[in-house]
Amino acid sequence: MLGLKLQVASSLLLLGALVAQAKYIVPGARWRDTDGELVNAHAGNVVLDNSTSKFWLFGEYKVQGQVEGGGVSVYSSDDLATWTFHGLALEPIEGHRYISPSSIIQRPKVIYSEAAGQYHMWWHADNSSYGLLLQGLATSDKIEGPYSFVDATSPLGNWSQDFGMFTDYKDGRTYALYSNGDRAEGRDVYLTSYNEEVTALDEVVHRFDKYDLEAPTILQTEKSYYALMSHKTGYRPNNVVAFRADSLSGPWSQPWIVSPLNTRTFSSQSGFTLRIDGSVKTTYLYLGDQWDSNSLWESRYIWLPIAIDDDKKTLAVEWHDVYDLDVKTGEYKTVEGKEYLATDAITNGNAFKQEANFATGGVIATGIEGNDSTVTFSGIEGTGKPQWVSFYYQNTDDMGYGDQPGGSPDRIGGSWQLRRISSVVVNGNVENVETLYQRDTHKGIILSTPLQLTLEEGVNNTITVGGLFNGFTYKGADIDKLVVYPPEA
Ligand code: GLA
Repeated sequence: MLGLKLQVASSLLLLGALVAQAKYIVPGARWRDTDGELVNAHAGNVVLDNSTSKFWLFGEYKVQGQVEGGGVSVYSSDDLATWTFHGLALEPIEGHRYISPSSIIQRPKVIYSEAAGQYHMWWHADNSSYGLLLQGLATSDKIEGPYSFVDATSPLGNWSQDFGMFTDYKDGRTYALYSNGDRAEGRDVYLTSYNEEVTALDEVVHRFDKYDLEAPTILQTEKSYYALMSHKTGYRPNNVVAFRADSLSGPWSQPWIVSPLNTRTFSSQSGFTLRIDGSVKTTYLYLGDQWDSNSLWESRYIWLPIAIDDDKKTLAVEWHDVYDLDVKTGEYKTVEGKEYLATDAITNGNAFKQEANFATGGVIATGIEGNDSTVTFSGIEGTGKPQWVSFYYQNTDDMGYGDQPGGSPDRIGGSWQLRRISSVVVNGNVENVETLYQRDTHKGIILSTPLQLTLEEGVNNTITVGGLFNGFTYKGADIDKLVVYPPEA
């Protein structure tokens, strides 16, 4: 009896381990922590910590009504997909000169300082008008904090805005990366070495001169260094670029765009790259932010594998709707889903199918608006368990609404609505309406965005997509197809 119990217990443990393994990474989804809350750690870094054998995620903590100055949050994980919240690693202090709730506390990065025997957190420290342009330092004996504020300083007398950190895995040396602001005297990105303790900057190793880029990060392969940075469009996404060099001091190559053109890096901004030194292969992840400037606290994460060919000197960020990463071996695989094309869907009200030579089935469902002009996909196979469903869509930046607030971004004085919102209803159950945020793409550019849905077991499910108000319009984006993925183990 006892033996049986033990056996059950150990197979449960095994099952637990397997389930943990099979948790997928789903870029652009609403990521939930182990308490069911949104993962709230923006523009930070991930550290694999030796003393705890866990991954630790640090980032800007944002809640509705307090999107800056919220401090730095910290989460831990064994698989980079399941995250446990440990509260604030750096707490704002009322009335503090540099870390008050009205300060800018952005792009935090944590590393372990071997020489100091402590964890060091550095970040972009500023006042609310970005008038100080400093780098903050806080330290802790424990990785999860609490971190104590040490100082905020200007790097070798320069300005410092978007902040990044990089440690060379070959010699252990740590570097700061920072854009030095938008003034004409700035517009550079600096790469500067730290002293041994990582308590102060040492010397400038390279200056990415007048490229006017920000959100910098560096990754290192056996032969190369690649520096990734974004253009400067605030919280709106643009085409992230990379540079390559044999040595950190250069010469650095010309920059190139790292993702398919006009996807604006899959609607994300660079910020960090993580090297996973697996037992089978080394994998590099792009850890980008999908800022939502209409509600910053809802911003999401675009984490994707990076394809590098060191002989050809190329690097590209690869899109995957859903992928399965084994952090021990470094291997990852694309999860295969089942496609349902707009060609086979039924449109209702004013929604209709329109010829689109770039769409998967040659037509796209358009005119989706409110709850009467909808598109319904039927015959969808489900399992009765939560499953990821990717909605492939085109959002042409409110084409035809140029005279309204928003306007087209490809128009003089134009700006964006940033995202449309669609309603998603499974099997006609209007009691349970899911909200699908569809970021602006571009004319003829299809991107995908996921929702986790529970379909009934069998092949008779329907999914209906309508339009919800995004602050400007009730229109939903045009739909190309749905892809339904198998449940996580
Ligand atoms: C850019 C920077 C962010 C933040 C915003 C503010 O996106 O990369 O860190 O400072 O601008 O607009």
